[in-house]
Amino acid sequence: MRLLLTVIKHTHKLPVYTSRLRCLSSCASGGLLPLRDEELILGSSRELVQGLGSQVEVRTAFITEEEEGAFLRELEPGLKKKRYEFDHWDDAIHGYRETERLRWGAACEEVLNRVRSVAFPEGSPLLGPVHVLDLDKTGYIKPHIDSVKFCGSTIAGLSLLSDSIMRLVRENASNEWLDLLLPRRSLYILRDQARYNFTHEILKDEESVFNGQRVPRQRRISVICRNLPG
Ligand code: OGA
Ligand code: MN
Repeated sequence: MRLLLTVIKHTHKLPVYTSRLRCLSSCASGGLLPLRDEELILGSSRELVQGLGSQVEVRTAFITEEEEGAFLRELEPGLKKKRYEFDHWDDAIHGYRETERLRWGAACEEVLNRVRSVAFPEGSPLLGPVHVLDLDKTGYIKPHIDSVKFCGSTIAGLSLLSDSIMRLVRENASNEWLDLLLPRRSLYILRDQARYNFTHEILKDEESVFNGQRVPRQRRISVICRNLPG
């Protein structure tokens, strides 16, 4: 089932540099205070963050609460029928259930068209079905690079239900890394080098700390669009 993934093991070095020192604080609702998009990316060096430039993007509040609700209404009935899968030692993902969907209701289709128009080059052929990944609160994604055989240069994902941290680590140079804070209802985009030369992972709740600030992980659903290899 997980054709897309190649797991790569590495040891993660401690941060040597943070691009910005800032405090995140939680508001009454338990969410994060509004952050500027450029405050959502932190890396091992300024050169790396700047060098990757637009190859890594996080856009906060890409969807509204209503749009998030539309996705949940559309996805929950199908997801609920599946069990979360744990403990496959060879699996890149722990504590997940997933599905793919080709046809969407109008509200979701409108959001997906917005994702497609900001993330992919015009005319770039996309992988037909959209990938939906439901991570349990205890679930996480180990470092991997999406299969170059099945997906192209760009990966774009919406995060529903929970904030989370995506970590990128350069293959064969684990001292070069980026952490992305993915707030609930944000969109992230990985392109080119960031997609091909860095592993990506979603941290487990216990490890979910961004710039010294704990970011509690809840159940998280991601809705991921990919293009086809060139
Ligand atoms: C994947 C993956 C990231 C996410 O399924 O290959 O990396 O945002 N998912 O769920
Ligand atoms: Mn992936």
